[in-house]
Amino acid sequence: MQIESSNLSIQWGARAQLAEQIDLSRYARCALVSDTSVSTLYGQGILDQLPNNTPLFTLPPGEKAKTLQEAERLWEQMYAAQLPRSTLMIAFGGGALCDLANFAAGCYMRGVDVALVPTTLLSMVDAAIGGKCGVNLGGGKSTIGLIRQPKRVIVDPSLLPELPPEELRSGMAEVIKAGIIGDPTLFSLLESSAGSISRCYPPLLTEIISRSIDVKMNIVDQDEREELGIRPLLNLGHTFGHAIESASGWGAMRHGEAISIGMVCAAELSSREGYLPSDVRERIEKLCFSFGLPTRIPPALSASQLIRLMRQDKKNLNSDITYILIREIGSVFTNNKIPDCKIKSILVDLGANPT
Ligand SMILES: NC(=O)c1ccc[n+]([C@@H]2O[C@H](COP(=O)([O-])OP(=O)(O)OC[C@H]3O[C@@H](n4cnc5c(N)ncnc54)[C@H](O)[C@@H]3O)[C@@H](O)[C@H]2O)c1
Repeated sequence: MQIESSNLSIQWGARAQLAEQIDLSRYARCALVSDTSVSTLYGQGILDQLPNNTPLFTLPPGEKAKTLQEAERLWEQMYAAQLPRSTLMIAFGGGALCDLANFAAGCYMRGVDVALVPTTLLSMVDAAIGGKCGVNLGGGKSTIGLIRQPKRVIVDPSLLPELPPEELRSGMAEVIKAGIIGDPTLFSLLESSAGSISRCYPPLLTEIISRSIDVKMNIVDQDEREELGIRPLLNLGHTFGHAIESASGWGAMRHGEAISIGMVCAAELSSREGYLPSDVRERIEKLCFSFGLPTRIPPALSASQLIRLMRQDKKNLNSDITYILIREIGSVFTNNKIPDCKIKSILVDLGANPT
């Protein structure tokens, strides 16, 4: 079951009232999990709101948290702290931390409840919503994992003005994606904010986040376990984007940057296939660009290698590559019948080298 909207709250400054937003009386213990950077900034303020015997466990920041070794280290610390089955784990951090914490909570004593408090834009609108969690293995992203809904998601947009600008930009790609997939009003709102999120004042930022979450929850509600072909629509731009991320070397480019280029590729493909009017394709590219996101493939990347990487995409049902195409802002669909030669010409025209 998708998290009920009653279990999700979006509130400016919510982190100062966490204890009021979570029913702690249902649990024997709680544990706070964060990363070393985020906990330096906010850890004590959160701990002060929780029972005295609440341990704080810290993980390395970013992707380094998403390993089986870190999960094991966390399980050992939880066991040493004698945390029982009736424990609520509160995860306070970005998408990587939320992914690891929800996964670790799902396995500890066959599963303890988790409340997610996402602290980056990307984790607010994407990673903390929908229940997917896990760790990386063998060069693959989130190879080992679960779909497991948190008991509570608390979104506090007031964390964002402090976020490094590059992290904010990366999250904006997923916000733009949400608009293209299912919310034309969100897309227009972004266009009219003239590309500067720093100019967004609290009500606008909160509305942008809330609308993005609605798009994702609506799709996950219909197809939580990806059995109906609806949830893959959330991967707009990701077929191209993951290949670009992987070919660049994981970590060389931020996820949202690769997704921005991937969305421009998807828009170009949709336009060349006759589905998307070229002026809408231009609006998509212009919006990404206006938020400081890249829209061209780095020339060092080879088009043939990108196609090989796209063939390994988890969405593919067989050897055909599944693309998410755009019909109009707010309407997308899947297509797995595009010949590689057409894709190669798009990749080259958008910057990849023809080898
Ligand atoms: N589960 C899902 O459905 C899903 C969806 C999308 C992405 N993801 C995952 O999310 C991860 C990316 O998440 P992300 O973009 O949040 O990056 P991140 O979790 O890697 O965090 C990026 C950096 O921002 C720092 N940070 C976090 N919050 C901060 C704050 N409020 N102030 C200052 N610094 C802060 C972190 O310490 C870290 O160094 C990837 O692992 C990706 O696979 C999961």
